[in-house]
Amino acid sequence: MNDLPIGVFDSGIGGLTVVSEIMRVLPHESVLYFGDTARYPYGPRDLDEVRGFALQIGSWLSQRQVKLLVIACNTATAAGLEAAQLTFDVPVIGVVEPGARAAVKATRNRKVGLIATAGTIESGAYARAVRTLDAGATVFSVATPRFVDIVEQGLRMGPGTFEEWIAEAADVFVRPTFYEIARDYLDPLRRVGIDTLMLGCTHFPLMATAIRQAVGRGVRVISSAGETARDVGETLRLRRQLAPAGNMALHRFVTTGDAAEFGRLGSRVLRRPITSVRTVPVEEIEAVSVPEQRSDACDEEGEGMVCG
Ligand code: DGL
Repeated sequence: MNDLPIGVFDSGIGGLTVVSEIMRVLPHESVLYFGDTARYPYGPRDLDEVRGFALQIGSWLSQRQVKLLVIACNTATAAGLEAAQLTFDVPVIGVVEPGARAAVKATRNRKVGLIATAGTIESGAYARAVRTLDAGATVFSVATPRFVDIVEQGLRMGPGTFEEWIAEAADVFVRPTFYEIARDYLDPLRRVGIDTLMLGCTHFPLMATAIRQAVGRGVRVISSAGETARDVGETLRLRRQLAPAGNMALHRFVTTGDAAEFGRLGSRVLRRPITSVRTVPVEEIEAVSVPEQRSDACDEEGEGMVCG
């Protein structure tokens, strides 16, 4: 049993879709969430730069005693999961492998579509993860950066759910409309006959209904949030580090941007009020000391053993 928080981070508010699932699946677990809003978006950045951000934030969270880290950002997972696992003493879980696993379970014709940021697509992380699970599956990828902007814009528009905003306002305000943009992005995937579509960005579950409508019936839309939350639970259970039943879970939020805005937008994503948000200046994160990566991860060879 262990009542330390789970550290979760993302480039901003998108990772709250993963936190929402963690809260649902693991209601006794405390969460310390870090949204790097000041340096958002990660999607168009160089992967080396994003890896550096992931290591800084992971170090900052590790210094605050978390029992496990979740990289709730596909771009940061693609860029920095391995480096983070080699750097930190606690388990680090990303969102790519759980999403790929859910897609491999769901597909029947083994043609899987992926929509994600440019960085995630460029890394090839999803294609590798899918092929590790099923070498005969094919991943067809499209970078959809405008979907990220649409979610950000939708969250900033008045009250109501994002889906209501798409349904009521997108045809009026946005030129080209959401459905025109979606058609351009999704038509090539439809033409190759995908039967499963991975939402490779933590913003996208917020527009899953609209994406489902745009991609059409017969294509299963997969988000990694639920599968990631289950992985977190399973890892903690195996390590005997689940919070005790009846633990009063504490949910704390930190942003490098504006705390009030993070609270307002984040409450819409979580569908519950976010009351405790603190701003950590980006200079503090840039100054954090990142531990050396383990170089002994494969030094344990003994007689008859191969370390690979
Ligand atoms: N949440 C990020 C992801 O999952 C996308 C937003 C960004 O570009 O920072 O990749």
